[in-house]
Amino acid sequence: MAKIVVNVAWPYANGTIHLGHMAGSLLPADIFSRYNRIIGNEVLMVGGSDQHGTPITVSAEKNGMTPEAYADKYHLINKKAIEDMGIEYSLFNKTHCPTHFEITQKLFLDLREKGLIYTKQTEQYFCPKCDRFLPDRYVEGVCPKCGAEKTRSDQCDACGTTFEPGDLLEPYCTLCRSTPEIRKTEHFFLKLSEFREDLLRYLDGKDYWRANVKAFTKNWLQDGLHDRAITRDMSWGVPIPVEGWDDKVIYVWFEAVIGYLSSSVEYSRMIGKPDYWEGFWKDPDARHYYFIGKDNIPFHSIIWPAILMGEGGLDLPYDIPANEYLMINGGKLSKSRSNGGAIDIPSVLGRYDPDAIRFYLSINMPDTHDTEFTWDDLDTKINNDLVATLGNYYHRCLSFTRKNFGTVPAGDTDPETLAEIERAFGEYRELMQVCELKRAIKVVMDLARYGNRFFDAAKPWALVKEDKDACGAVMNTTLRICKALCVMMWPFMPRSSERIWQFMGFQGTPEDAGIEEALAPMPAGQELQEPVPVYKKIEAPKEAPKMDNQEKDKKKEPPAAVPAGPFADFRRLDIRVGTVVEVGDHPEAEKLYVLKVDLGEDEPRQIVTNIKSLYPRDQMENRRLLIISNLKPAKFRGVRSEGMLMALDDEELGGDAVLLLKPSADVPNGTQINCGLEVSSSRIEVKHFEKCSIKVGKLADGKILGSDAPEGCPAAAAFVFDGDERLPMGDGKGCFVTTDNLDFIDGAQVR
Ligand code: MF3
Ligand code: ZN
Repeated sequence: MAKIVVNVAWPYANGTIHLGHMAGSLLPADIFSRYNRIIGNEVLMVGGSDQHGTPITVSAEKNGMTPEAYADKYHLINKKAIEDMGIEYSLFNKTHCPTHFEITQKLFLDLREKGLIYTKQTEQYFCPKCDRFLPDRYVEGVCPKCGAEKTRSDQCDACGTTFEPGDLLEPYCTLCRSTPEIRKTEHFFLKLSEFREDLLRYLDGKDYWRANVKAFTKNWLQDGLHDRAITRDMSWGVPIPVEGWDDKVIYVWFEAVIGYLSSSVEYSRMIGKPDYWEGFWKDPDARHYYFIGKDNIPFHSIIWPAILMGEGGLDLPYDIPANEYLMINGGKLSKSRSNGGAIDIPSVLGRYDPDAIRFYLSINMPDTHDTEFTWDDLDTKINNDLVATLGNYYHRCLSFTRKNFGTVPAGDTDPETLAEIERAFGEYRELMQVCELKRAIKVVMDLARYGNRFFDAAKPWALVKEDKDACGAVMNTTLRICKALCVMMWPFMPRSSERIWQFMGFQGTPEDAGIEEALAPMPAGQELQEPVPVYKKIEAPKEAPKMDNQEKDKKKEPPAAVPAGPFADFRRLDIRVGTVVEVGDHPEAEKLYVLKVDLGEDEPRQIVTNIKSLYPRDQMENRRLLIISNLKPAKFRGVRSEGMLMALDDEELGGDAVLLLKPSADVPNGTQINCGLEVSSSRIEVKHFEKCSIKVGKLADGKILGSDAPEGCPAAAAFVFDGDERLPMGDGKGCFVTTDNLDFIDGAQVR
């Protein structure tokens, strides 16, 4: 049994937490913590509300509240939201509390004793009207180098110049617009420069860290480590434990990271074992994980390790699986509203079940790259994957068996199925172990798909009439898959999995039973409970894009062998939706994939493509694509290719950067993307396609590519142009053509 500390980034108590916080740090931490619990590890999961810092004092003032009342208000709101989401901390603490003050001050004094903290005079902007020192971001002015206006006082975004207090021209206080003065002030500094060698050595063994975390940290270290001020001129924060420093406090970032430790101590005191935390922080074999967003990396990979090294005898971070961002309309998810829906957790929980949200954020987790959030995608994934695949599987097995047998029927497990469960289980464990949570849940979903295929092929509804014993063995096998799914899904969706567990007739929870139960047979004779579907479809009828009369008339035109009239070039293309079912390597050419793509035909199509350097294999597997299906087949270095992938060509991104296009809705393979027009499917050549003008734009303020967006338009959508006319690309029935990355130039061409 290993000891695991799951440290979770502390959300600021400056607003209600939203889906971005969930996807970025809270949910992955909870999934990983539960996984470790179900495999029998001892887990301490700590974090809380980050309650200090200038932005909180500013918001409190605006709301006519004291900083403490304000920060406590959001602490309580967020604590409840976290519990409602099924996120289980050992303790969700807050930084404005006595234990945190005590531990922070102890570390501060220890480091000072060792000469790792010292004082220095600096100059700082001070607003006489607001009567406060101003952090960099509260002072703006004109850049003395390039003349850019509204430039922040620490750095010019336009020309990159960095400033010292006094450099900026025409400075003003962003809070009250008056002119700040410069005052001398003394601060404590952390001797970060002293830790360079130790940090490099520490980083050396961390090959298993995520690429972004390693790169970020290395860059920071290479740029040279500068000593950093760790106190601020304000009264809201952790007091400095040194006489004569009453008008200053410890800097929020210096103390917030100490929260991991103080929260562990506080928890130990709470449970009446005041030394409990030492087993986790002083045991060199205990592993510390930090679940954070990418903007927090250096604080966790450099500053916090330096503080820990300075203190000595405490465990350093073992892994820092920082996530990228959940994006909305091309920006980091940070606003409280998006496309008509509030994204803060209490609002979202008013409309969705917590496990449904957990499911979606897990399969769309921004772990290695930013992912796009849309309400449509959320509904689609809940309806098609959670309900129609997993929920349907659970329910059809449980209700059929209960109705026809009442208890778990006896019978040998189908050997192929057993092998399938074992394979999935092995992959799942390897992925979970290294925090590859998105890939792990996909493995479980694949097993659910296998289960549905097995069920369909076995036709138990017919078999039960012909040979009840044989049907019993089939149902025993299907229930065994249910159990494996339920155990492996528990870390992702604990509450619904616990209900399934009970329907299967088990006591307690999957956690009590342990992970190995995923592989164990179903106990014959065990009584089944009456099941109810645990996942519910989202009823959100999608409207087809409105067509004006002119377009309707066009639709009535008789099909022409070689189309004439508007959009003639486009109407020569037979574009179909497909799903990649196999990703192979080209035997001769290193840079080429040989894909098998299901276009709803009898056989998948073989397509050769050169996107290998841009899309790793795991991103291609099961990917939905748009295929030009009526191109003359061609050979690429001896391998036949029967179609072409549609992609966005973003020259600005440089070289051969392309973004694959995909349908915005979960339409069947083979769905024709004809914009509601009659199209011809006779064979064409690439040059015909090149005549078409297709551009992709980004939706902003209800407009896309300069015109009003059609109803249901996704955050990025492709349009076909013919002179001044344009049509949204799609099936004409509500499915658009989009892409899952918004890092491209608005109006980029499809080639
Ligand atoms: N409050 C910070 C943020 O939301 C995160 C603090 S993490 C901690 O970006 F380690 F400093 F606590
Ligand atoms: Zn001011």
